[in-house]
Amino acid sequence: MRILAIETSCDETAVSLLETTEKSGSLQFLVRGNALLSQVDLHQEYGGVYPNLAKREHAKNLVPLLEKVLREAKMLEPTKTNQLTKERVDELKELLHREPELFSRSVLFLATHKRPLIDPVRSKTPELSAETSSRTSNGIDIIAVTNGPGLEPALWVGINFAKTLSTVWDIPVVPVNHMEGHIFSSVIKQIDDKLLEIPPVKFPAIALLISGGHTELVQVNNWPASSSQDGPASPSSSQGGGSYEVVGETRDDAVGEAFDKVARMLDLPYPGGPEISRLAEAAREQNLVFDKDLPRPMIDSDNLDFSFSGLKTSVLYLLKKMDKPDEKTKMKLARAFEDAVADVLVTKTSHALTTSKAKTLIIGGGVSANKHLRKAFQKLITTTHSNVSLFIPESALTTDNAIMIAVAGNFRAEKKSSFPYKDIVAEGNLAL
Ligand code: KG4
Ligand code: ZN
Repeated sequence: MRILAIETSCDETAVSLLETTEKSGSLQFLVRGNALLSQVDLHQEYGGVYPNLAKREHAKNLVPLLEKVLREAKMLEPTKTNQLTKERVDELKELLHREPELFSRSVLFLATHKRPLIDPVRSKTPELSAETSSRTSNGIDIIAVTNGPGLEPALWVGINFAKTLSTVWDIPVVPVNHMEGHIFSSVIKQIDDKLLEIPPVKFPAIALLISGGHTELVQVNNWPASSSQDGPASPSSSQGGGSYEVVGETRDDAVGEAFDKVARMLDLPYPGGPEISRLAEAAREQNLVFDKDLPRPMIDSDNLDFSFSGLKTSVLYLLKKMDKPDEKTKMKLARAFEDAVADVLVTKTSHALTTSKAKTLIIGGGVSANKHLRKAFQKLITTTHSNVSLFIPESALTTDNAIMIAVAGNFRAEKKSSFPYKDIVAEGNLAL
């Protein structure tokens, strides 16, 4: 099965083309093409993601990224014969009436390129056995697109682009939940830069999802059933449909949001997470400690919910009481903040593991790039939950990307009729 994936839920435009392949019973993916464009620099002057700018940038970048991915996959075939009828162009005009730039770029591209097909000679790869190749079609089998949660104007661009390609190339569209993508992102093992593997996962698992918009503990009872009649089954697909149960979540700010807000208080650029993390690390190296502990909100509550807004406010009050902080004070504060966040996340996650008798811990989302947190979770597993396997995303897969959407899409894919693509809508608050 070949999956084209599109991700536009926030400030990263990403496209990838993955192909399922099988080696000794485990599910593997060959990365045929992968492209990602971050808009972080553009949003920096707004101190956060500006939805309309994100939407415009996605509309501008999707076609060039698709072209790049198809070229990398050796599936880009230009032609002088116009591939679009007038009726088709009218249809696309209606579909993309809110995205005029995406419309003109898409029409130009689709009129001058053939439906992408794999060229067996040009694309021959040693990883693909003859047996595996014969089980897949010679084109793209499904288009996976993020339909939420995220910024709705941004999500719509990706969805409408997926619908455009689906209309012209006659390929079904599969909607993918961005958070499910993050869960898969953590489990993906990178064998090399072109080959990924989904190792067997023991359930139940607890997933801690920490990003700019989310902080939640999710009990994962199994993966969604893998579609593939014609592709390899997932290691656990026999267990049936996927099941996610949110067992704890933030009552106010997401942890990434708290990092970003505290960074802004310290005059650090957006996104603030990496900046705070850098300062905190420097403080640890230099043994700099703030003379007061910051609060650990809800750490002793008898549930698995979080609250980070009080922690953020306590930093604000401290700053109000002092002169403009110098670099060393910023470092100490960053460390104190990171320590408080780590304590709360580790304590709650440990409770969740115990309560659910989980065999696996999955940490996902942008904040999982944080080195101190990664170490804290590794320590938790070795000291307190040694029977639990830990999955943390490889650095390249902590941020939003289309590889995770392709992998989740593979698990979600069903027959075309099950996904009438016209019904797919952007859902900003889509739950797992
Ligand atoms: O998952 P993600 O890329 O986008 C969303 O879906 O939100 O997460 C972005 C968030 C931002 O709040 C960013 O500050 C945070 O992840 N982040 C970090 C680090 N790297 C990114 N937070 C703490 N430490 C980091 N090293
Ligand atoms: Zn994300």
